[in-house]
Amino acid sequence: MSKYYLTTPLYYVNAQPHLGHTYSTIVADVIRRFRRMQGHEALMLTGTDEHGQKVERSAQAAGMDPQAFTDQVTQSFRALWDELGLQYDFFIRTTEARHAVAVQKLFHLVEKAGYIYKGSYAGPYCFFDELYVGEGQAGDPCPLCGRPTEQVTEENYFFKLSAFEQPLLKLYRDQPDFVRPESRRNEVISFVRGGLRDLSISRANLKWGIPMPTGDNHVFYVWFDALMGYMTGIGFAQGGAEEERWKRLWPADLHLVGKEILRFHAVYWPAFLMAAGLPLPRGVYAHGWLLFEQDKMSKSRGNIVSAEPIHRVMGADGLRYFLLREIVFGQDGSFSYDALVDRYNSDLANDLGNLAKRTLDMISRYFDGEIPYPSGVAARQGADQEVQDKATETIQAATATFDAFEFSRGLEAIWGLVAAVNKYLVENEPWTLADQPDERPRLATVLYTAAEALRIVSVLAAPVLPVSAGRIWRQLGLSGEVHEQLLAELKWGQLPLGGKIAKVEAVFPRLDKAATIAELRRLEQELSAAGRKPGQKPAAPAAPQGPQAPAEQARSAGQPAPPPAAAAPPLGERITIDDFAKVDMRVGQVLAAERVKGTDKLLKLTVDIGLETRTMVAGIAEAYRPESLIGRKVVIVANLQPRKLRGIESNGMIVAAVLTGSDKPVLVSVPDEVPNGSKLK
Ligand code: MSP
Repeated sequence: MSKYYLTTPLYYVNAQPHLGHTYSTIVADVIRRFRRMQGHEALMLTGTDEHGQKVERSAQAAGMDPQAFTDQVTQSFRALWDELGLQYDFFIRTTEARHAVAVQKLFHLVEKAGYIYKGSYAGPYCFFDELYVGEGQAGDPCPLCGRPTEQVTEENYFFKLSAFEQPLLKLYRDQPDFVRPESRRNEVISFVRGGLRDLSISRANLKWGIPMPTGDNHVFYVWFDALMGYMTGIGFAQGGAEEERWKRLWPADLHLVGKEILRFHAVYWPAFLMAAGLPLPRGVYAHGWLLFEQDKMSKSRGNIVSAEPIHRVMGADGLRYFLLREIVFGQDGSFSYDALVDRYNSDLANDLGNLAKRTLDMISRYFDGEIPYPSGVAARQGADQEVQDKATETIQAATATFDAFEFSRGLEAIWGLVAAVNKYLVENEPWTLADQPDERPRLATVLYTAAEALRIVSVLAAPVLPVSAGRIWRQLGLSGEVHEQLLAELKWGQLPLGGKIAKVEAVFPRLDKAATIAELRRLEQELSAAGRKPGQKPAAPAAPQGPQAPAEQARSAGQPAPPPAAAAPPLGERITIDDFAKVDMRVGQVLAAERVKGTDKLLKLTVDIGLETRTMVAGIAEAYRPESLIGRKVVIVANLQPRKLRGIESNGMIVAAVLTGSDKPVLVSVPDEVPNGSKLK
């Protein structure tokens, strides 16, 4: 059995996990399951990237020591992955002692090979991304995040990245699938061809990092530190059995990353490894972004959706199916509750759910729950052969497309088979055959054909729908587990004749669209307002639904509708444009946030409003956790007279909508590209 070692990015712990992070981990979990069903020993590493400025600032804002803060957030990631049933074999936190040892070892290897020197840098720097921009001037937007850069002058340790231009280009040439998809590979090649500057790998202005072994209070640049997690997590530099495991599993077969961090993985990482004389990973695959309301889902944009409410309402399989089917892997894709529920209802409830339910119900009713024997030539027709041929084709197509990371096409092929079998049932009308005793052999053939196709569908869909495919498998009365099936051995005719099916239950109950969306919104609101961490139960009366148990209240039959929205308050008195012009509203960005002592309601915020940095006190502490606000764009009323609240002078007011029927504030969101200081009119 050959090994297949894959990784997700190591997520920053400056914020709670959202659907963007979940997307990467779900895809990695699908690949892991698929490779296992191909017979590989597939092992997956995930983890958290816990050093650096962003994390340090978030911890400060939460009034916590960085280690205690990261302990808490990393736990949220793990709890969410567990709750969603995502399986991983290794978890690395970059604040673990074993990791520091590995990073220092990498440094020594690279230094010994002559690729490190001490130099100084003066120029624009992005504090958010901890990036020396190298070109242009302070104030220019950061090429990664678009935030304004600031001038810094620093002595640093540099890595001779420039020496790796040609070796990297050779790597992309010799190993054309090192960077995938193809379009991204071309981007990487042109970036490297454009010339590589040496890279500063130390930071003197930061404490929260791994100390460099140079004795001058520098810490490692967060990327030199983080990438190494892929090796530490499986035993690099740990000695003994751990080290042996690293030798067996390294190089990684796949680093799965979002497109915005491809450069670090496809350029810096192989260059570090080449310099250290260590084997290079076999490939990097960059996927696109999950967009919500046309914008990248991210904390700073304030347009976050969490996986947990979706899991509670429709089960993790519904979410997995949507993400893999709706988004062409490698490209950006939009997420909306509307599309999510539509996909669930049409493809899962209607197509696969109905196929499973009616096939199994009829076997139960007409054959007393025994898989019928397809009878000989007399009762066999061309349509049966067509289903069989289609199933054989689908096994081939689904396996090949999944193998090429074309998940959406693979699922389309599987659902093509589902549609063909549903059509076959409609055309062959087993319910009519059941009324005619002399048609019993034909009835047996039709139901056998449908059940066998259903078995094949459950095996092929298992990497994406692990829970539901398992349910269908068990309802078919099959032994073993669906995920233990080997794809290479899957073929028509393996359904044991005469086997007894189990109790038939709907696998995907239909959801009432409006009620489901309302419930999803309510849960999401509750989660963000309460600052609840994944894994905790919702505080609200809606009973938490177990995985794969869709929320009762959202089901189509007799569900209690969610409470209607309370009426909006009456409109105020009209004012003139001149009255309005007196109000100076600006776009700002929260730099720091902390609770005001002695009250549960107030947060003290430091807000960059373009022209200056302001302190403001806002009554939003019951709705927002301080750390969730760092980096977030806000709208403020900038020309209010200062006012003292709890001894702190508040210079401005943050604009928020107030939910009718409660006094819960919801901050107005502003796209990230709007510069701080922009005026609203
Ligand atoms: N810590 C670095 C990665 C270091 S890897 C050695 C980092 N962390 S992150 O928390 O910002 O996570 C980035 C990854 O999360 C992305 O590369 C992507 O895999 C996932 N996503 C975060 N937001 C996303 C979307 N809106 N859409 C899709 N994936 C996104 O960068």
